[in-house]
Amino acid sequence: MSKVDAVIGCFYGDEGKGKVIDYLAADADVAVRATGGDNAGHTIRVGDVKYAMHLIPSGILSGHTVAVIGNGMVLNPKVLFQEIDNLKSHGYDVDRYLKISEKVQIILPYHSLLDLALEKARKSSKIGTTGKGIGPAYCDKYERCGLRAEDLYGDSFEERLTELVESKRELLKYYDPENAAEYDACLDPKKICEEYSEYARRMEPYVCDTVTYLHKALEEDQKVVIEGAQATLLDIDFGSYPYVTSSNPTVGGMLTGTGLSASDIGNVYGVIKAYSSRVGEGPFVTELTDETGDRIRDLGHEYGTTTGRPRRCGWLDLVTLKYAKRLNGLTGLSVNHLDTIGKFDRIQVCVAYEIDGTVTEDFTTNLKALNRAKPVYREFEGNFGDISGCASFEELPENAQAYIRFIEEYIGVPVKFIGVGAGRDEMIVR
Ligand code: GDP
Ligand code: IMO
Ligand code: MG
Repeated sequence: MSKVDAVIGCFYGDEGKGKVIDYLAADADVAVRATGGDNAGHTIRVGDVKYAMHLIPSGILSGHTVAVIGNGMVLNPKVLFQEIDNLKSHGYDVDRYLKISEKVQIILPYHSLLDLALEKARKSSKIGTTGKGIGPAYCDKYERCGLRAEDLYGDSFEERLTELVESKRELLKYYDPENAAEYDACLDPKKICEEYSEYARRMEPYVCDTVTYLHKALEEDQKVVIEGAQATLLDIDFGSYPYVTSSNPTVGGMLTGTGLSASDIGNVYGVIKAYSSRVGEGPFVTELTDETGDRIRDLGHEYGTTTGRPRRCGWLDLVTLKYAKRLNGLTGLSVNHLDTIGKFDRIQVCVAYEIDGTVTEDFTTNLKALNRAKPVYREFEGNFGDISGCASFEELPENAQAYIRFIEEYIGVPVKFIGVGAGRDEMIVR
């Protein structure tokens, strides 16, 4: 039976997972996403066209890969149909290649309103969420009052949805009394029932038992890849809590979010950039708040795919990567943006943290310690020149090779993919 390849973000998201999935999908029959929702934004450049995939697995862009929205995700139907329409307008046969888990949680209009109201109520301790309703939708899942895709087709759908809208509207007024009239106006149960009945009608052909589908695909020796969303340091358990997302983007979440088993997994590819970035609040040990950080942002075009927010930027942090290796059992790495970092004369790489006089290579999620951690850097020569045309590791200049070799030696995991540009083909495969 064929083994599943998993692609996982190692830092704070936006490492270029979409690009790696796009490469793997060329030989894959199925690409499945396990966690998160449209808080993700995976960019793939196909020729002159730039696709920003938020919900549908990027693997669909191969043109022959079935894209599965797994049971662990939270799905906003409005965004789903925007994506479907966009893909169809570019000639993709979405009706043939898209499948949606019957168990996926549905995002309702009150989820994003709650997300925004809760952020407002947090005042100085904001998380910096994407405002897409992800946290409130997962809250409802665990409170067991969420609607799954299959519930859209139940007899009592309208009755349940009406009750939910009415109760969430009161909750919103409690959190944010100033805007009570607005909540009354935009959370009309009748209108929401009508809107979601129409989504349900359009979604029905895609909704199925994806757990059985995935296992049958493996039994038929088909190639399945799991497209990670978010990243290790945004994990609700293992990330920099509370500055995290509300799911488990690490390898465990990939199992519970798809129904695949641990023994189904083969390669686990950890994706990083040759530097680090983060959107939203929370600790970031190697962050550069000076002009070097601004330069990384400019050169790497580091603005959020989902929210457009400028991303915080800093040097590569191997302490974090080692943590991600341990948690996810990484078997290979993908290092993107080698072209971007190669534009600097000198490059720093964080090899340890100094916390209150103690030097450690072990990451901690203790916020107090993390906020006091000072990066210990090792310096590398930059100036790689234009490497966008390099098709093999050997074609890279010596400085670039040394940088990659150091990452491999420190982490003890081979670098399998190297990004030398944003384009689909600008990737070295070893
Ligand atoms: P994801 O969320 O992990 O899929 O990553 P995003 O798509 O949010 O962000 C990655 C950004 O880096 C996108 O704009 C990509 O087009 C771009 N990108 C990915 N790999 C490379 C690379 O090797 N070089 C350059 N210059 N850009 C890259
Ligand atoms: P991809 O898949 C980067 C961040 C948000 C915020 C925190 C919580 O493109 O790598 P949420 O809306 O999930 O409750 O926000 O998580 N975040 C991401 N940052 N890339 C992502 O996805 C992210 N998804 C969530 O910025 O800090
Ligand atoms: Mg992204």
